[in-house]
Amino acid sequence: MKYLNEILGIRYPFIQGGMANIATGEFAAAVSNAGAMGLIGTGGMNAEELLKNIRRCRELTDKPFGVNLMLLNPETDQMADIVVREHIPFVTTGAGMPGKYIGRWKENGILVAPVISSVLMAKRMVRDGADFIIAEGMESGGHIGEMTTMALVPQMVDGVDVPVIAAGGIADGRGVAAAFALGACGIQMGTCLLVSEECPVHENYKKALLKAGDNATCVTGRSVNADTRIIRNRMARKYLALEKGGAERMELEKYTLGSLRRAVFDGDVETGSLMAGQDCGELKSIRPLAEIFRDMAEGAESAARNLADQASAWG
Ligand SMILES: Cc1cc2nc3c(=O)[nH]c(=O)nc-3n(C[C@H](O)[C@H](O)[C@H](O)COP(=O)(O)O)c2cc1C
Repeated sequence: MKYLNEILGIRYPFIQGGMANIATGEFAAAVSNAGAMGLIGTGGMNAEELLKNIRRCRELTDKPFGVNLMLLNPETDQMADIVVREHIPFVTTGAGMPGKYIGRWKENGILVAPVISSVLMAKRMVRDGADFIIAEGMESGGHIGEMTTMALVPQMVDGVDVPVIAAGGIADGRGVAAAFALGACGIQMGTCLLVSEECPVHENYKKALLKAGDNATCVTGRSVNADTRIIRNRMARKYLALEKGGAERMELEKYTLGSLRRAVFDGDVETGSLMAGQDCGELKSIRPLAEIFRDMAEGAESAARNLADQASAWG
């Protein structure tokens, strides 16, 4: 088998990013039912909640789905065990290096795809047994690295001998085609799914995304190595001012405590943390997941045809 969708048993070569407090079992099932790989995100969950979400997802879909383990979660050891016991076929990881778990996951037939933002770290993950690398550029929403998707993906493709999935800043078919042109075998997306009908974030969060322009996001946490892309709002401005004033990590963490939950559940768009990628400026309407994926696939085909036409003119 050659293609990512065939390997994973899904229709499109699209992975839903694990999104803390958002990627529930219900949402993952909706994504899988719409033809992509749905993921339950462990950020903001405990081990028992993960188990419940896996069971819920199974009730709602007979399609494959996976789990994104947010490695800073204090219950990650138990969760790493749950994915084995529950026969989860596909695991992605975020916020760290999952090396110590990979051996056991591989013994149990799990396909492993760490989210990585540098070639050096990716090489280590491949030595540890990763099946794919998700190369995530700094255009992404949430926690980010330094490099852009455009520069990172081809270097990752050249640097590791496993297939590379591109993430960051991809919200339509043009982005999908670009990722494949750079050598990726599939894409992971987060931001554009936040405005799906099925996404459980508060309506105010969705409206803020639809209102956002190309320059709507900023990166907080640079001073303390916790770079996070969010929509610029009152909270973000205050955070950046605190950083500029030399605030310590503890003070900054205290300031943002619970802020993602405030945005996701309460719809607080002023003091909540509205994680979003730079692609939020492309979002125009709230649509069903099936339509988003279909448009991305069709848009990619038409972008690839345009590219072939252009190339024939200069070839
Ligand atoms: C609201 C939000 C929360 C996220 N939380 C996580 C997370 O818990 N774990 C993770 O690995 N990635 C997380 N991400 C990153 C996504 O999985 C994905 O890689 C990223 O969204 C891709 O870029 P895009 O936002 O431009 O589509 C998050 C992204 C967003 C927008």
